[in-house]
Amino acid sequence: MKLIDGKKISAEVREELKIEIGKLKSAGKKVPGLVTILVGNNPASEIYVSSKSKACVEIGMLSKSEKLSPDISEAELLSIVEGYNKNPDFHGILVQLPLPKHINEDKVIEAISPKKDVDGFHPVSVGNLVIGKDTFLSCTPAGIQELLTRYNIETKGRHVVVLGRSNIVGKPIANILLQKKENANSVVTVCHSAAKDISFYTKQADILIAAIGKAEFVKADMVKDGVVVIDVGINRVEDKTKSKGYRVVGDVDFENVAPKSSFITPVPGGVGPMTIAMLLKNTYKAYLKYGE
Ligand code: GUN
Repeated sequence: MKLIDGKKISAEVREELKIEIGKLKSAGKKVPGLVTILVGNNPASEIYVSSKSKACVEIGMLSKSEKLSPDISEAELLSIVEGYNKNPDFHGILVQLPLPKHINEDKVIEAISPKKDVDGFHPVSVGNLVIGKDTFLSCTPAGIQELLTRYNIETKGRHVVVLGRSNIVGKPIANILLQKKENANSVVTVCHSAAKDISFYTKQADILIAAIGKAEFVKADMVKDGVVVIDVGINRVEDKTKSKGYRVVGDVDFENVAPKSSFITPVPGGVGPMTIAMLLKNTYKAYLKYGE
């Protein structure tokens, strides 16, 4: 069993980007810019957004955080997004989700220019992914592909079983690994809550990607020997021995599944750290592709 170290790979990706941005600066060029837009004061969202801005600054990118009132109207938010679509200093626009109930999230996502859609949530980005065109990939699934690539884990012709069909992880990772491209070209099965016998599918997985949000759902008797396990889950379970009163576990029963696996991502420290690294990579890509 080998641990897939997401912290280490994330640091590598960020270091590579820092070097590229250093070169731009030395040449007196503009640097890539990311604007994050947070509506309201959801504490978890505040932490996510500030980590994203901090990561930008650390690698020398331009970062701006817009913190907007929870009462802002949909029309006002749309007009702010429109302003950044036209602003040449910002190559990526990220509107942190969830948004307050009075704002239509789909409308806001669709208002972001597909050229600045570094979250990869715009229907144009999703459509391009499905038909195999170059596009912005949603950050967590892009991070999973990066981990598989950097650990030289073969994907071509291998059976990937995805647990979960969310728009943010399940559907995009299935589509990414399905493409007839390098670091993909897999045979993909997507399982979800309506599956009658999940074990029937998981036992056939060469690579199992768990993204269902159920603590330690995948047990040792559900996987075959040598499986590669990618655990996207972040679940809190009560633990009175911890000062916070809980601990964080994935969707996989790590202790019992790890000995049967060839590679496995820990939680925390596996997939999680990759999301921000890929957001930065998407922002750099937006700059190279569409920057002025
Ligand atoms: N909320 C939780 N995760 C994400 C993410 O990756 N992007 C955005 N925009 N909002 C989120």
